Amino acid sequence: MTGSQIMVILFLCGSGLAEENVLMTAERLGGKTLGTLVKDADLVETLSGQGPFTLFAPVDKAFKALPQDVLDKLTSDKELLSQVLTYHVVSGNVTSNQLKNDMVVDTVEGTSKLRVNIYGSKVTVDGANVILPDQLATNGVVHMVDKVLYPLPTQSILEYAAATPTLSQLVYAVSMGDLIDFFKGGPFTLFAPSDEAFDKLPAGVLSDLLQNKTALNNVLEYHVILGTVYSAGLSDNLRVKAANNQDLTVKIEGENVIINDAKVTTADVTVKNGVIHVIDTVLLPPTRNTKHSS
Ligand SMILES: *[C@@H]1O[C@H](CO)[C@@H](O)[C@H](O)[C@H]1NC(C)=O
Ligand SMILES: *[C@@H]1O[C@H](CO)[C@@H](O)[C@H](O)[C@H]1NC(C)=O
Repeated sequence: MTGSQIMVILFLCGSGLAEENVLMTAERLGGKTLGTLVKDADLVETLSGQGPFTLFAPVDKAFKALPQDVLDKLTSDKELLSQVLTYHVVSGNVTSNQLKNDMVVDTVEGTSKLRVNIYGSKVTVDGANVILPDQLATNGVVHMVDKVLYPLPTQSILEYAAATPTLSQLVYAVSMGDLIDFFKGGPFTLFAPSDEAFDKLPAGVLSDLLQNKTALNNVLEYHVILGTVYSAGLSDNLRVKAANNQDLTVKIEGENVIINDAKVTTADVTVKNGVIHVIDTVLLPPTRNTKHSS
């Protein structure tokens, strides 16, 4: 036997591969709450089955961070709990080297897909950080994540905006431009100015824009990045190209994420064709009319 063969055997024994299924592996690695909830939802047998399964396992801290009312709802509604938990499971043995940026994967839950992103060396699932990838188990693989994932209503960007009362001016502006079909594509990142943001615009700016579709579309496209960029992908001093081909500048100031002069007030809203960050200021391109000369 060669030295490297011995190393492989030692590694396999050390990783617990021989004994532990995905659930036991997750529990050992800080997913005790997950284990308890899986029992409550009667899913132990399922996850102990042959699989193979890929389990995105939230650590205990992720459950602790849930608002109390959400946690209460989860623990009192077994059907909902089962739906949420099965949304963390993908059928197949998917290791991190098989994941690609902006890939969407089916879950055992059935109706809602997970979105994977790769930002440099970071991997996220629906914006949650994979903090410990590739823990092999007898019936699959476990990736520990720092947030609880929710199956989402299968709304698109514009459907979500239309259903959100505080985004009514944005929805109106989009309807006055030519971008409704554009927004059906994707995946996109939308920095969505709230109604408060529109109210802060200097007098006349919005009414001028509403009278000039070219200018309006240019401003709206300045709020869009092609591809999904969750908070995890936004870093200090990052410059990103907006869909109108001009740059946005990202600043991280303590807990705050700032896009040009706009503060992100609600981050990481996952929708069918991308992600939305609500912002408190409308983003105006540095000089207008530069779309073709830049
Ligand atoms: C999962 O994939 C890894 C890496 O390819 C492999 O070593 C492992 O045996 C697989 N596990 C199962 C249960 O198929
Ligand atoms: C509309 O806006 C575009 C782009 O900003 C500009 O080039 C054009 O002159 C404007 N049209 C009118 C009628 O103001």
